[in-house]
Amino acid sequence: MSIHTPKIEKKVTLSTIAKMKGKEPIVMVTAYDALLAKLFDGEVEMILVGDSLNMSFLGKEDTLSATMDQMIYHTQAVCNGAKLPCIVFDMPFGSYTTAELAIANATRVYQETCAQAVKIEGGKEKADIVRALSDNGIAVIAHIGLMPQHVRSEGGYKVRGKDEADIKALVEDALELEAAGAAIILVEGVKAEAAKAVTEAVSVPTIGIGAGNVTDGQVLVWSDMFGFFEAFKPKFVKHYFDGAKAIREGIETYRNEVKAREFPDDEHSY
Ligand code: KIV
Repeated sequence: MSIHTPKIEKKVTLSTIAKMKGKEPIVMVTAYDALLAKLFDGEVEMILVGDSLNMSFLGKEDTLSATMDQMIYHTQAVCNGAKLPCIVFDMPFGSYTTAELAIANATRVYQETCAQAVKIEGGKEKADIVRALSDNGIAVIAHIGLMPQHVRSEGGYKVRGKDEADIKALVEDALELEAAGAAIILVEGVKAEAAKAVTEAVSVPTIGIGAGNVTDGQVLVWSDMFGFFEAFKPKFVKHYFDGAKAIREGIETYRNEVKAREFPDDEHSY
């Protein structure tokens, strides 16, 4: 049996992450519960408690109905499981529409969970919100490009950065968000050329998802990368494990053994 050795031994902070830009790729993954977070502890620099949990954990069509209470509950679970990664709280849809609301909600995040930063979706139109949060001592990750919280207003998930004008717009977004105090720019669903332009333009780290191999770090949603989420598979998702197949085989074996009165056997009985 192999002995598992954690790769990371010290608590990862946002300043650790800032120093990694251009030097060592940052590894980030989502988690929504303590069990999984514990397995990721010591393996990844960052854990995102993403509002994607509304789809994979709760079985909803999109992320829009996630609530502050739900996100706080799951972030507390992740905090209980993982001690070393820098944990990021994904602000749900509608929780940061004004500076006052964003500050009140993000204050709750710092007071009720161990998250070190909050993530909000939006381009330069959200710079005021980023500034209000960072001026109040709350670290922000700005999520640009394809923004899942815009799925209904935009009529689907649309890849960005396909032409010069859009690449320029994304770079402008990133620069304004950085100037407003964003600690990290997360870039989702953009052509690699656009992600490269953004990464080169800003001095804070960039983390990509579906943005090619050009950003300072990568993030994947755990249920996508481990093959549990079967509703659809975006092109950028790589399966590192066939989770759904493994669970189906496990449940089938259990069922067969119970039906055949093979389980529990003497070894598993008092
Ligand atoms: O909610 C989430 O998991 C996210 C990732 C797609 C970055 O925002």
